[in-house]
Amino acid sequence: MIQKILFGVIAFVFVYHLSAQKTTPTIKNEADVPLYELPQLLTTENEKQIDTSLEWERLRRPEILSYFANQVYGVSPDKLNFQEVDVLDNEPAALGGKAIRKQVNLNFKKGNKSISISLLIYLPNKKIKSPVFLAYNFKGNYSVNTDPAILINGKKETELSKEELKKFNVSDRGGRSSRWAIEKMIDAGYGLVTVDYNNVDPDQNDFSDGIHSLFYKPGQLAPAKNEWGSLSAWAWGMSRIMDFLETESMIDHKKVILFGHSRLGKTALWAGANDHRFSIVISNNSGCGGAALSRRRFGEKVSDINTNYPHWFAKNFHNFNENEAALAVDQHMLIALIAPRPVYVASASQDAWADPKGEFLAAKAASPIYRLYGKKGIESEKLPPVNTPFHGAIGYHLRNGKHDVTDFDWQQYIEFANMHFESN
Ligand code: GCU
Repeated sequence: MIQKILFGVIAFVFVYHLSAQKTTPTIKNEADVPLYELPQLLTTENEKQIDTSLEWERLRRPEILSYFANQVYGVSPDKLNFQEVDVLDNEPAALGGKAIRKQVNLNFKKGNKSISISLLIYLPNKKIKSPVFLAYNFKGNYSVNTDPAILINGKKETELSKEELKKFNVSDRGGRSSRWAIEKMIDAGYGLVTVDYNNVDPDQNDFSDGIHSLFYKPGQLAPAKNEWGSLSAWAWGMSRIMDFLETESMIDHKKVILFGHSRLGKTALWAGANDHRFSIVISNNSGCGGAALSRRRFGEKVSDINTNYPHWFAKNFHNFNENEAALAVDQHMLIALIAPRPVYVASASQDAWADPKGEFLAAKAASPIYRLYGKKGIESEKLPPVNTPFHGAIGYHLRNGKHDVTDFDWQQYIEFANMHFESN
């Protein structure tokens, strides 16, 4: 007995020691940020200097994109067309009459597997074609507004099974409405298309569910080391939703603005890098693996994110835990992949975990690529004061407050979109 206890204690100390070695303490003070050197944006792997946007597009951009795909987020499969579109709702006078509401299921099938993506769409009821914000939500479409007609996972409340009633908190309609300034968008002439990100791939460390399993080779149970993790799957899903939006006559598909908060901000940047059809990309408080520079190791580190969310990135990305310097890229390059399209990076002053300064510095370090296209990036060396937005081809603001999406943020995104769409 004593031997067993002793063995248990030794095993515990050993495992504890190993796991303690895995991650270093969180950096909370600027003075503790290590010295680092960012990989060169404008020099190819063969040491060729890039001087023009054409050289960037032909030589350097593909190298960076392929590296992010294989070593960071994971390679996604080709397009899969939705076999069926079910229009579940089409209401011309929603939100007190100012909006059209449409709810649609996109059904994807491959082999004997299928998934269904439920879209909630609000459009201003005045225009023929509207620009839209396209955004995933965390808690279900019914969380974004108290509108009682919003379906729950594509169904009416009375059609929900017992399991679904357990899973979805139907009394929490509009529980996240403070993050969705829908009326502000509609009044400004923008629509919103939103989808629960779990529809594409449930956010859990399980690769037997969601979109991944539709693409497995016989006998395959999980993505290979360089294949898509969940962030890539969600980004892929954004493009499939875009395939559908292109068929919608009421939507101006040349003006689809991709928006994402936090993990969904990481997703928006990666989706925007891969798919040129998104005309503006907005990352709100996206942090590690999003807009923040990994080499600063401030707040959340690569090892933290890979340990706490082992399914988000490609397995290859785990090779860089506590070893960011070995990456051939850093996150400024992800932002640069979106050029010359406008991109907005937003931080919050109390969101140290997402490293606001690292987000700002990445946006700044992406600027040389915007300059190649004759566009204005970020010139300033210093993080701007709170609530002082900068709107160039790259937009940035440091909102006062915590990790969140607020009306102040939406106000900036609307003004940023107005500015870019009017200048075109
Ligand atoms: C965690 C995670 C972040 C992520 C955030 C979110 O805090 O560490 O990387 O951005 O969740 O998505 O809410």
